[in-house]
Amino acid sequence: MGRILVADDHDLLRRGIVRALTEAQHDVDEAANGNVAIEKLQDTQYDVVLSDLKMGGSDGLDVLRTAKTLHPATAVILMTAFGSVNTAVEAMKIGAFDYVQKPFEIEEMELKVNKAIEHRRLQHEVEYLRHTQGDIYDFDRIVGANGGLQSVLGIVRKVAKSNATVLVRGETGTGKELIAGATHHNSLRASRNFVKVNCAALQENLLESELFGHEKGAFTGADKQRIGRFEQADGGTLFLDEVGDMSPNTQAKILRVLQEHEFERLGGTRTLRVDVRVITATNRNLAHMVAHGQFREDLYYRLNVVSIDMPPLRERKEDIRELASFFLRRFSGELKKRIEGLSPDAVKLLMRYNWPGNIR
Ligand SMILES: Nc1ncnc2c1ncn2[C@@H]1O[C@H](COP(=O)(O)OP(=O)(O)OP(=O)(O)O)[C@@H](O)[C@H]1O
Ligand SMILES: [Mg+2]
Repeated sequence: MGRILVADDHDLLRRGIVRALTEAQHDVDEAANGNVAIEKLQDTQYDVVLSDLKMGGSDGLDVLRTAKTLHPATAVILMTAFGSVNTAVEAMKIGAFDYVQKPFEIEEMELKVNKAIEHRRLQHEVEYLRHTQGDIYDFDRIVGANGGLQSVLGIVRKVAKSNATVLVRGETGTGKELIAGATHHNSLRASRNFVKVNCAALQENLLESELFGHEKGAFTGADKQRIGRFEQADGGTLFLDEVGDMSPNTQAKILRVLQEHEFERLGGTRTLRVDVRVITATNRNLAHMVAHGQFREDLYYRLNVVSIDMPPLRERKEDIRELASFFLRRFSGELKKRIEGLSPDAVKLLMRYNWPGNIR
């Protein structure tokens, strides 16, 4: 169900559309010409505006421009007469969601309206998720920002807005993924995707199909085309976790994307270009692997433009108390238990422990 404005100077047609959409449980408003539609747009926000293209006075393009200026999220669908496809294309360029050609079946129009409403709903959802996801990565929310992670966050602040590749090194559970996310969410790419791939979880073929996608029939079991993570991350950031665990073949392909920004899907011949920032993490010693011929040196230098070393928890004891109260608050909330805090003896015990799994 959505809030819809129908603008058409053809009374019979307009009333028919209004009736059909009202019967389909939408909340419908109508305008008998472009000027009235524009007036209505001044004080009401609609999910969808369905407007005729040719009307006396202000026409459909004026309605479209007004709607896009006042309420950019509103979807505008234009109704065009046979032969005005060029104007319809023009309208799509200005930002119309879609157009229907007259005469049309009312079902066809209803389908387009429903699609527009679903599109809006998904947009809201994406915005909401991005917002809540971004929150976790606010520098203020990262425990230790004023303690043991000060210098780490100093580097993140400096490099987040550049497109430099970042290599995050550290033992398990030190917060490598958290820092990769914070780098993305504080970058100019924050409104685009942050896509993660764990390179240790998949063997060579599956990892490559995960990263680069594949065409239908590329290998046994590839019964559909699949979009890879590089494509999903276009305009955003790709986080390659456990990057030390890639085969030499995959290393070569990653190097090519970093150098040429291009790749092919498995089984595909078309070369795809992407704009992706790459952040990697590893708990292995890559320099050591390079020296032993287990990791490509040229790739290592590409990945290691900026490196961030996560200090283990035992070396930032000052954060233990803060982390303990952070998790205590979180779990007492989740388990609905009231917990006053930690006794001084408990804090002493926590500080003495060496935390081999760090914050895991
Ligand atoms: N400074 C911090 N403040 C709050 N939570 C943290 C902090 N550091 C880590 N965490 C939390 O601890 C968990 C482990 O962190 P993360 O996954 O980033 O570590 P990692 O280094 O990638 O670990 P692994 O090597 O095991 O993949 C996550 O749930 C993360 O949100
Ligand atoms: Mg991790």
